[in-house]
Amino acid sequence: MGEGRFAGKVAVVTGAANGIGAATVCRFLDEGARVAAIDREAEGLAALLAGRPPGGLLTMAGDCTDAAVLAAFHSQVIAAFGAVDILFNNVGQSGRERAAEFHESTEDVWRFVLEVSLLTTMRMTRLVAPAMRGRGGRIINMSSDAAFVGDARLADYAAAKMGIVGFTRAVARELAPHGVTVNAVAPGAVRTRAHDQLSPDVVARIRDATPAGFIAEPEDVAGCVAFLASDDARYITGQTLLIDGGRWMN
Ligand SMILES: NC(=O)c1ccc[n+]([C@@H]2O[C@H](COP(=O)([O-])OP(=O)(O)OC[C@H]3O[C@@H](n4cnc5c(N)ncnc54)[C@H](O)[C@@H]3O)[C@@H](O)[C@H]2O)c1
Repeated sequence: MGEGRFAGKVAVVTGAANGIGAATVCRFLDEGARVAAIDREAEGLAALLAGRPPGGLLTMAGDCTDAAVLAAFHSQVIAAFGAVDILFNNVGQSGRERAAEFHESTEDVWRFVLEVSLLTTMRMTRLVAPAMRGRGGRIINMSSDAAFVGDARLADYAAAKMGIVGFTRAVARELAPHGVTVNAVAPGAVRTRAHDQLSPDVVARIRDATPAGFIAEPEDVAGCVAFLASDDARYITGQTLLIDGGRWMN
């Protein structure tokens, strides 16, 4: 068994092959957890395994929007590691190249964005919550400061990511008596693959709107997720932590 803050703990990360998910997998492993990682990209998952001692990381390639895939993943985790202590519901995305101003948007894109950014979180939480009620745990959900700021062309994404905030609060209230905390993180601009696709002028505009004056690294989010997953955060629940260099302050 590893040493560190999460020694003996089992952590699950969705959307784990790249960006914030991958950074968080590494953080949990480095701090002693056994980690189960799911992503639809098998290559990225294989890269996470490279150079790691066997046994600490379980990976599964699959689409998180498929309820049957998530259920099979959960069963594999239980069989390999036992009950889940920490769940990081990270998977999600905007419509990206299909994003549009709302008056020109289409329902198929809304459904895609809500499915991948909100329903995945609800389904995975539904899978782990019964056992967590008996033994405690930590759930961290991925929101976005785009929901707070109200970024143009992202109304569907803002709806999904604000949906995460309400879901987090309601489930936090239900699970708090059972020793389970449920919180959300809401990053601003983070240097990931999705972010790399933005044009330089858009990146400059975001940086100018960020008091801290720089774009975050995935590790900046992973560290906050690890804190919320740790014993130090046992009295924090139902909260949404903005990690955005001050772009949104209320
Ligand atoms: N990067 C940012 O600036 C930023 C800001 C706020 C919130 N977020 C949120 O952080 C989360 C992670 O984003 P990221 O920036 O690290 O993106 P990323 O593209 O680097 O990584 C996302 C991962 O999710 C996987 N994925 C996407 N859809 C999937 C599906 N249906 N099934 C399985 N895997 C799937 C991708 O293969 C990829 O590995 C998302 O929920 C995103 O909305 C990102």
